[in-house]
Amino acid sequence: MTKRIRRWFTLLVTAFMLTFALSAIASEESSQNINNERLGESVIQGEMAGFAGADYWRAVKNGQEGTTTSKSPEHGVLISVPGQTWYILKEKWMSPLGALAIFGSLAMVALAYVTIGPLKLSKPKTGRKIKRWSRMDRALHWSMAFTFLTLAFSGLTLVYGKHFIKPIVPSEIWGWVIYAAKQYHNYIGPIFAILLFTVLIKWWRKSVFNKVDMQWFMKLGGMVGKHKGKHPSAGFSNGGEKAIFWLLIWFGLFIAVSGFVLDFPMFGQTRRDMELSNLVHMFSALILICGFVFHIYIGLFGMEAALDGMITGEVDETWAKEHHDLWYDDVKDLPENQPGYDEKLDAESKGKASQDNV
Ligand code: HEM
Repeated sequence: MTKRIRRWFTLLVTAFMLTFALSAIASEESSQNINNERLGESVIQGEMAGFAGADYWRAVKNGQEGTTTSKSPEHGVLISVPGQTWYILKEKWMSPLGALAIFGSLAMVALAYVTIGPLKLSKPKTGRKIKRWSRMDRALHWSMAFTFLTLAFSGLTLVYGKHFIKPIVPSEIWGWVIYAAKQYHNYIGPIFAILLFTVLIKWWRKSVFNKVDMQWFMKLGGMVGKHKGKHPSAGFSNGGEKAIFWLLIWFGLFIAVSGFVLDFPMFGQTRRDMELSNLVHMFSALILICGFVFHIYIGLFGMEAALDGMITGEVDETWAKEHHDLWYDDVKDLPENQPGYDEKLDAESKGKASQDNV
């Protein structure tokens, strides 16, 4: 073999060995890649089975706690099992029974209007006026009435709107209605609590029950049965008015406290606290709404001349004598209840003003 041939042979063997070595490395790498891919797939599959598989969701549904960066109580729990009880109590029981109670109350006052009719004064009005509610009292009453009624309507929209409003309006309008109801309810709610406290401070003294009220109840307020039209004795407020006052104070207090818990959920309230507050809030509101259906009926349609006092501040002497005889006896001789008192006061203040101008 010549020198030249030997050189060619060595070159060929080296090239062959190099090719063999490189292909061995490449095949090693590709099998490594395949292994890696397989590993990746199995990891994903493992994760899917672990995190989003049936077992995982079963655990979530059973209220199992996971991990989260949030430190707030219960944030690791996606589905709270006792929350289902709250949902059933609210949606399946309280909501339909509440609707029944409200429609029932409206039906009862309609029936009372048709069968009993408005309580008329038994004697003609004398024209003499007796002072009953101050300007401050009336402002307080109408502010409370406005706040309560608008909160009642927005609250009822939140609970029943999806049944009564949503099906009959376009979805954009429904979105706005429910948003406005929620915002109004959240922001005006605390004003109700302030007014409630003011009502308590201002009117509690004349709302303390006494023996006379018991007799008023025994005679059913002189509204129905054998005592109808007989006007049992009463002081400034009769038994029925005192009852509605304390109903407002107690259930109003439950509404206010539970409302604050719902309105400001940043004091570590748990889901259980929120659910309980929601049920107490809704139950108390439904009781008050039904109670005030009767109050509003009496004020607007059920009793002749009852509204005068809350509008002008004064009532006719006949109304005062018939509905609040003990109070009438107490106040009839006061100077401000004598005929011409206001005119005299006006003349005096005009005279004083003209003297000051001289
Ligand atoms: C259109 C709605 C309403 C009307 C027409 C109305 C009418 C009246 C009238 C006429 C009185 C005076 C009764 C009297 O002189 O003896 C009165 C008293 C009162 N109203 Fe209303 N009211 C309405 C809504 C409300 C609402 C929504 C509330 C509270 C949530 C409320 C709370 C009270 C209270 C606490 C009293 C005083 C009861 C007492 O201690 O004598 N009213 N209302």
